Amino acid sequence: MKTTTNLQRRKLLKYAAIGIAGAVTYPSWAKTDGFTRVNAASNYFLPDVEIELTMNTAYVGILKGEKTRVWKVTGKLINGPEGTLDNNEGTYLAPTLRFKKGQKVRLILNNNLPAQSILHWHGLHVPANMDGNPMYAINHGETYIYEFEILNRAGTYFYHSHAHGVTARQVYSGLAGLLIVSDDQEQALNLPNADYDVPLVIQDRSFDGQNQLAYSAHMMQRMQGFLGDQILVNGQPDFVLPVSTRAYRLRLVNGSNSRIYKLAWDDGTPLTVIGVDGGLLESPEQYPYVMLAPGERLEVWMDFSGRAGGDELKLRSLAFDAGSHGGMGMMGGRGHRGMMGGGMMGRMMSVSTLPLGSDYPLLKIKVAKKEQGHNTLPKVLTPIAALQVKHAANAGNPKTIALSMQHMSALLNGRSYKMDDVQADEIIPLNSLQLITFDNGFDGGMHGMMMDMPHPMHLHGEQFQIVKREVSARAGDNYASVASGFVNSGWKDTVLVMPGEKITILKPFNDFKGLFMYHCHNLEHEDMGMMRDFLVK
Ligand code: C2O
Ligand code: CU
Repeated sequence: MKTTTNLQRRKLLKYAAIGIAGAVTYPSWAKTDGFTRVNAASNYFLPDVEIELTMNTAYVGILKGEKTRVWKVTGKLINGPEGTLDNNEGTYLAPTLRFKKGQKVRLILNNNLPAQSILHWHGLHVPANMDGNPMYAINHGETYIYEFEILNRAGTYFYHSHAHGVTARQVYSGLAGLLIVSDDQEQALNLPNADYDVPLVIQDRSFDGQNQLAYSAHMMQRMQGFLGDQILVNGQPDFVLPVSTRAYRLRLVNGSNSRIYKLAWDDGTPLTVIGVDGGLLESPEQYPYVMLAPGERLEVWMDFSGRAGGDELKLRSLAFDAGSHGGMGMMGGRGHRGMMGGGMMGRMMSVSTLPLGSDYPLLKIKVAKKEQGHNTLPKVLTPIAALQVKHAANAGNPKTIALSMQHMSALLNGRSYKMDDVQADEIIPLNSLQLITFDNGFDGGMHGMMMDMPHPMHLHGEQFQIVKREVSARAGDNYASVASGFVNSGWKDTVLVMPGEKITILKPFNDFKGLFMYHCHNLEHEDMGMMRDFLVK
């Protein structure tokens, strides 16, 4: 059965080989392995890498006992260098894809799920019709062909389902994986690699008595965002990383639906940050802790030399006050905040046994082997040209996006997501630099039945730079518990906007015309409509 989503997508796809837009029949050559191609591979695109990805229902062993039913992406490398694809067999994680900047990539996505879906390449700068906008969702039995060149610099990117209204559920079921890009500049730094370059995908899940993933979407949960009872790292509970006595490059990815982490080493060692969403920083930076919101990535340097065999160390999420009030706002509005700490209220209202902002371990590190390694942290990583406000097309007039949660809706500038609904202020001239401000109740301009919530804002397309964070007095003590944990340097595609905060960014919109989304990466908020499209033209 075709839904409006698909009809809309069909209107937009160009059936070059058929020549009739909107055709619903396909020539016989367009079928492979029983899957029907909704778009054709281009004759002019010569891929360096070709991968077939199939989304399936699968059973994996996560907890002891019964296997867990998940949605698993499985890949097949058709052509390309060895090491491009790791299926993460035995876990629900989608394959880890390793690309080099400049590679031309063809990804053939087959949908064998009992639902519509589409994958989005989070953080990559690709053409609009290769970006996995929900309008391109494919049905069971259909194939979508992506073709793009890797234009991004080296970094830890990821990909996940972006199906309309069900992204949260689908990502939760397993439709998310890592996409790691390398380039010559990064390789020349000789950072720890192979076994010493470790991606760590942090997620939270809840299980029922039969070891099956539990996900409920009642209103309170959707307003707060889903919070699981258990932390999984790379798809495994009680994750232990055995290490050698040498330096490591750890790539931390928050692949959770809504949970925000306050990352810290439990022995007080500062976090040495070498990279963020869009790759390496100019030079390493130290933090007592770092906030990592859904969709964000963080690269950390950690040197275990000098530690004794058998030593243990934990990466924790420390206590913080997210300033999210659960149902508080709906009961009484802002006036009541002072009476009961917002975070305390939030925790009381939480549906999870592991409340947001509580203190808990994420993973354990065990020093297992003595080993000599290159343990010198480079003082300079990769140069980053700072974007200049004066070069923005709207330098004196930032595009302001007001974030709000009210009644049963999560809105951007008072609007909810609608396909094909670009408004005048959402049109952006091609090849322009834009100054954009996210306002999460900074001016206190919103009244009445509001909920204070942190919102991790994500923009598709090119990476951006953070110009400034402004915190209003009303953010108060809550903010103090997170204030030292924001990495504002480097290239970003997702930025956590705390209640009472206003963040200004500079974002280039180069090379590609078309629709590029901006939305909250709390996936429940996204599905509730806290998402819009920019039209670049
Ligand atoms: Cu990570 Cu629009 O998504
Ligand atoms: Cu949000």
